[in-house]
Amino acid sequence: MNTSEAPLLTDAELKLLQALVYQECGMHFDERRTHFLQDRLQRRLKECQLDSFYSYYRLLISQQGKVELAKLLENLTVNETSFFRNKAQLDLFQRDTLEEVLQRKHHRNDYSVRIWSAGCSTGQEPYTLAMLVADALAYYQLRNPLLYECPLPKPLIPPPWRVEILASDISYSVLRAAQEGSYGEHQMAAVDYGCRLRYFDKVGDRYVAKKAVRELIHFDFHNLKTEYLPQRNDFIFCRNVMMYFDEPEQKRLVEKFYRCLNPRGYLFVGHAESLLGLTEKFQMVHRNSGTAYQRVEVKA
Ligand SMILES: C[S@@+](CC[C@H](N)C(=O)[O-])C[C@H]1O[C@@H](n2cnc3c(N)ncnc32)[C@H](O)[C@@H]1O
Repeated sequence: MNTSEAPLLTDAELKLLQALVYQECGMHFDERRTHFLQDRLQRRLKECQLDSFYSYYRLLISQQGKVELAKLLENLTVNETSFFRNKAQLDLFQRDTLEEVLQRKHHRNDYSVRIWSAGCSTGQEPYTLAMLVADALAYYQLRNPLLYECPLPKPLIPPPWRVEILASDISYSVLRAAQEGSYGEHQMAAVDYGCRLRYFDKVGDRYVAKKAVRELIHFDFHNLKTEYLPQRNDFIFCRNVMMYFDEPEQKRLVEKFYRCLNPRGYLFVGHAESLLGLTEKFQMVHRNSGTAYQRVEVKA
């Protein structure tokens, strides 16, 4: 089929498909992003060799269309990410909020820390968090030694502490890349030499996250639109994801995050995102240009 024969996308078909995408994953395509949606729909239609967008819509809502629906959603996501993104916020995480959580947990002999990177893309965010937590715990242990036998070689996380990082996304292809944990020189730009030496192996011209770092992270598929989401987190990082949702969907997501956090847990959103006007159940913590939101305990 040449381009002049490409089926036209009518307004009615566009509305149907927009509504379906919103219902499936929460992504909202307003006028500024309709062009992008149209382009991706054209590509998928061509790939499926269908002759109308209505047939494509029928395929997506059918039982056999599940795989195609996942492919479409994958094609609609923006996966831009980088190591140590928003340094001021990560400093706030490591120096203030993590320190506070470690002290609080230490006090009640709870040595587990659970972090969720929701919308982790190709993994730079969860690997960054793993490096920051490993450094912070080593330093914490230095100042607050616990009389536990330390096996040799020294583990990344000093016992009795246990760290679990859950990294999730709606796109299987980015999750596969994240799991490999292999990055080129350009992607490593923000990773300093110390971190490269401690946390990566050099394999050819790539940097591959060391096994001990990869073992801290569990990668999994989660659609933030669904109700069943990972519970009991001390920290949730959901950065540069909510900006693609409309306000009602953002409100629903923030409410779910509230339930997914432990009491006094922290939520980190992207630089261009905010909880302002979405909820009263979080208190903003702001230091040196870094922002986080702490879960407030509301009386039932
Ligand atoms: C722009 S990237 C942000 C990556 C990282 N959090 C950061 O800030 O660098 C947004 C990610 O959110 C994911 N995403 C979008 N909608 C989602 C949904 N409904 N459920 C889960 N992940 C979603 C996309 O697949 C994409 O990988």
